[in-house]
Amino acid sequence: MIMTGDSAARISLATFPTPLEPAPRLAAAIGLRPDRLWIKRDDLTGLGGGGNKVRKLERTVAAALRDGADCLVTTGAAQSNHARLTAAAGARLGLPVTLVLAGHPGHPGAAPAGNLLLDEIFDADIRWAGDADDAALAAAAEQTAAELAAAGRRPAVIPFGGSNRDGAQAYADAARELRAQLRDQLRDGLGGTLAGQATSVVALGSGATMAGLVAEFGPGQVIGVHTGAVAAPAEAVAGLVAAVTGQPLDHRELRLRTDQVGDGYARLTEPTTAAIRLAARTEGIVLDPTYTGRAMAGLIAAARDRDLGRPATPVVFWHTGGLPGLFGHPEAAAIAR
Ligand SMILES: Cc1ncc(COP(=O)(O)O)c(C=O)c1O
Repeated sequence: MIMTGDSAARISLATFPTPLEPAPRLAAAIGLRPDRLWIKRDDLTGLGGGGNKVRKLERTVAAALRDGADCLVTTGAAQSNHARLTAAAGARLGLPVTLVLAGHPGHPGAAPAGNLLLDEIFDADIRWAGDADDAALAAAAEQTAAELAAAGRRPAVIPFGGSNRDGAQAYADAARELRAQLRDQLRDGLGGTLAGQATSVVALGSGATMAGLVAEFGPGQVIGVHTGAVAAPAEAVAGLVAAVTGQPLDHRELRLRTDQVGDGYARLTEPTTAAIRLAARTEGIVLDPTYTGRAMAGLIAAARDRDLGRPATPVVFWHTGGLPGLFGHPEAAAIAR
């Protein structure tokens, strides 16, 4: 079903609204007032194990269908959540999906675990692109699409991470969903005022999730925690914000934490390990080693630095999913100890 309720059409893949849950024990453990911290459960978007990419796919796949696509191609790291959810979306819609992934067949990282296991269960065609950087992956995806077209198919290439204008627009929609929930759920009579002042904290990968939130809330109310997925995160986010709002944004206005990358995107860090344990042991919430664990480590650091606004204002942690990545991460066993 294609819906045309607002600026661009989207298809229905997710379950909305995702819950907004209080996290009082976690808040107290990191030095915040217990009633201040909320978790926006975008890990519960429904399709294919859930996560933020489902919202983006509602719009990026709608655009592909409008263009007449009969199959989908996308790219990512071996443990890409976006690739897994594109495979799930294709399965839901009856569209064959080809995933062009960084890595080598036969290497341990190509074993069917975590997201890769799900990619195979969703019956995606996996092509390995070797040690490819972003540009090489994009070129490999175009090459794959050309081969499919030569074979008589009509492929659409869904961008890396689902991050283009449509992907960011999906998170502007999500921001409006959150604002309505905060107004409903804040019970102190100042709900409307406080809801308007909430600070969102979110993992920053390819950038459209943060960009959509910034497009709706403004740059002062969103903290993006850089995961090391892209080389120039602030520029990427600012460009995507501008694509949604139609207004240029100086990337220096964005609030980014770049202190959680550690030894790189693929490596587990000590603060991430501590954050995953703390969220699990105070709230029974599972985070992942690459995105949401890093984002929570960034939130904990921001609380320590008193960078989360005045004591009464809400702080919303966006749980963007990624659980399969925990089971596909080579260092995950260290989190158990
Ligand atoms: C679980 C999870 N959280 C957050 C993100 C970051 O979203 P974005 O790529 O829009 O910055 C990703 C991106 O891959 C992700 O998989």
